[in-house]
Amino acid sequence: MSPATNQVVCVTGAAGFIASWIVKLLLEKGYVVRGTVRNPDDSKNNHLRELEGAKERLTLCKADLLDLESLCEAISGCEGVFHTASPVIDDPEQMMEPAVMGTRNVMVAAAEAKVRRVVFTSSVGAVYMDPNRSPDVVVDESCWSDLQFCKNTKLFIEE
Ligand SMILES: NC(=O)c1ccc[n+]([C@@H]2O[C@H](COP(=O)([O-])OP(=O)(O)OC[C@H]3O[C@@H](n4cnc5c(N)ncnc54)[C@H](OP(=O)(O)O)[C@@H]3O)[C@@H](O)[C@H]2O)c1
Repeated sequence: MSPATNQVVCVTGAAGFIASWIVKLLLEKGYVVRGTVRNPDDSKNNHLRELEGAKERLTLCKADLLDLESLCEAISGCEGVFHTASPVIDDPEQMMEPAVMGTRNVMVAAAEAKVRRVVFTSSVGAVYMDPNRSPDVVVDESCWSDLQFCKNTKLFIEE
């Protein structure tokens, strides 16, 4: 294990699948971790508290993606943010606002706190579903899925 860095890093949606691994790895590397969860008292956060280093260096803060103030409090004083919190569901009605406005709020809070780096976990679904692109092409930030194609084929969208 590398020596403690004492740098503070925020992980949004800390109890989620990807976030839990990020929290574990950050603690192993000696970071001080501030994880956001919607309900810090929920037993589904217990696995985080049992991680090595959690007692000394993990704080769970209550924050909702649609509550900018709660995000500002969680992110204030952080060097970095891993933004993984998102409703992972097939219903666009319920998903869009927290996903889009929530990400915007995280970016606003990170900018206000002068965070050095934000890492955002998107999905291959956002970039890959384009019938006009060869499957052999390596996708990058210039590639976006074709919304109409996704709707027509019901890929990732249930109506
Ligand atoms: N899992 C994968 O293989 C994979 C692959 C590629 C990309 N991704 C992307 O990575 C991100 C995380 O995926 P995941 O699999 O880790 O999802 P997950 O296990 O469902 O975790 C998502 C977390 O988001 C939180 N959340 C949902 N709505 C929220 C809101 N309104 N305010 C605050 N927190 C909220 C949930 O917190 P609560 O505990 O409060 O409910 C939950 O812990 C998603 O954007 C997903 O598309 C995942």
